[in-house]
Amino acid sequence: MGRVSLPEARRQTRLDPYRELYARRTVGLKASAVRSLFAVANQPQVVSLAGGMPNIVDLPLDLVADSAQRLIRDRGPQVLQYNNAQGEERLRQQICQVMAVEQIQADPDDVVLACGSQQALDLLTRTFVEPGDVVLAEGPSYVGALNTFQAYQAQVVHVAIDQYGLIPEALRQAVLACRSAGRKVKFCYTIPNFSNPSGATQTVKRRQGVLAVAREVGLLLVEDNPYGLLCLDWAPRPALRSLEAEQVVYLGSFSKTLAPGLRIGWALAPHAIKEKLLLAQEAATLCPPVFSQFLISDYLEQWDWLGQIEVFRQMYRLRRAALLEGLAEHMPPGVSWTKPGGGFFVWLTLPRGLDSQAMLAQALTNRVAYVPGTGFYADGLGSRNIRLSFCFPPPDRIREGARRLGEVIRDALGVAQTFGLTAPDGGGLDGGGPDTGGPGGGVPDPISPDPSGPNPISPDTISPDTGDPNPTDQDTTDQELP
Ligand SMILES: Cc1ncc(COP(=O)(O)O)c(C=O)c1O
Repeated sequence: MGRVSLPEARRQTRLDPYRELYARRTVGLKASAVRSLFAVANQPQVVSLAGGMPNIVDLPLDLVADSAQRLIRDRGPQVLQYNNAQGEERLRQQICQVMAVEQIQADPDDVVLACGSQQALDLLTRTFVEPGDVVLAEGPSYVGALNTFQAYQAQVVHVAIDQYGLIPEALRQAVLACRSAGRKVKFCYTIPNFSNPSGATQTVKRRQGVLAVAREVGLLLVEDNPYGLLCLDWAPRPALRSLEAEQVVYLGSFSKTLAPGLRIGWALAPHAIKEKLLLAQEAATLCPPVFSQFLISDYLEQWDWLGQIEVFRQMYRLRRAALLEGLAEHMPPGVSWTKPGGGFFVWLTLPRGLDSQAMLAQALTNRVAYVPGTGFYADGLGSRNIRLSFCFPPPDRIREGARRLGEVIRDALGVAQTFGLTAPDGGGLDGGGPDTGGPGGGVPDPISPDPSGPNPISPDTISPDTGDPNPTDQDTTDQELP
């Protein structure tokens, strides 16, 4: 490729010579907080509670290897060839069986395969979003989704959550406020099960509440559900899509229940939207990875994939217990955290006066890595939050990570107390008492969130003390579920 010729003076400034050529939508795109941590966090002496990598050592790798070999040997010209943009029909049928576990009844023709659910989200966003349009998302929400929305110049407006996930009334108010400010709300992105990063799960009653609001105000919901089958304390809950077919686009993935490297996810969409997604997929990739599709199809055919998910669950149960026990043992007073019923993540809240981003360097020096909370908000909130993942390191390493993190937080608290930045008793202000005035149970200002405001998930709504994954005081439907 020929080099762009540049005046010597400009070259010497070492500025990016292509700076003025980039599309406006690339301005402000940041490297993922997780990615920039990887180099340090992957050093063997560091306990990484940062990355959300699924633990696939328990997969039947011999079976997958045999299958790969057989497919290439017997059907090479087909499985290594281009295919159609929608994806192999047999796999789409099997995906409908996978979704049936969460009570979804779907036609394989409404499924569009993608390079992971991440790409399905990208296709959907490019299909719907014009610069300046509003996308609603839980606060906090998955950083990869926020990056996608930002890449298409959406304005992300966060909707408050509590331990049951999205708060229907907050959703309603957010939509109405955006519309009365003349903004177009394109959809609401939600992770109903074991959210990344909060760990929150919507109860059945909460799902019905969210859908009732969506119907009332005419809102499209995007249900992102990579963790739904990794439930550790109860049976899989009915997907939003199982309760409403016309106003929900469902995103699924094999990344957490099989292998992320195969890069196969999917969208299940109402017919008209599916047609648009297909066009977008044709333009984006021609077809999603064909060999991966055949390999997954063969795996689902040959293997007891539901039994395998139970094996994963058992493995993650041990890891979750290690993290929760480690936190209970080592966190100083004033720190609170969520107790997820599944998935990979725990969301920790520091006492007022501490800043998780500022504390990270010290944590890495103390050989423990986490992801600071600000990456999970589009509006600067989250400075007192930390996302911890329990999916990857073995349990004893997770416990050790919690111990190291406890030391770092204690030290930071000591410094903060010396300078009068937090309560002398170790931050009881936030950790112990209600976060009054916050939007935890109320309604955020959808257009101009206050970056100095309290965290939407307050320590008050998610208590480190109860540990009850299915609290019944507000959402009795939970009692129906094992
Ligand atoms: C909530 C959520 N959605 C989507 C994805 C992307 O998954 P995939 O590998 O299917 O692209 C992730 C990955 O961690 C995630 O946590």
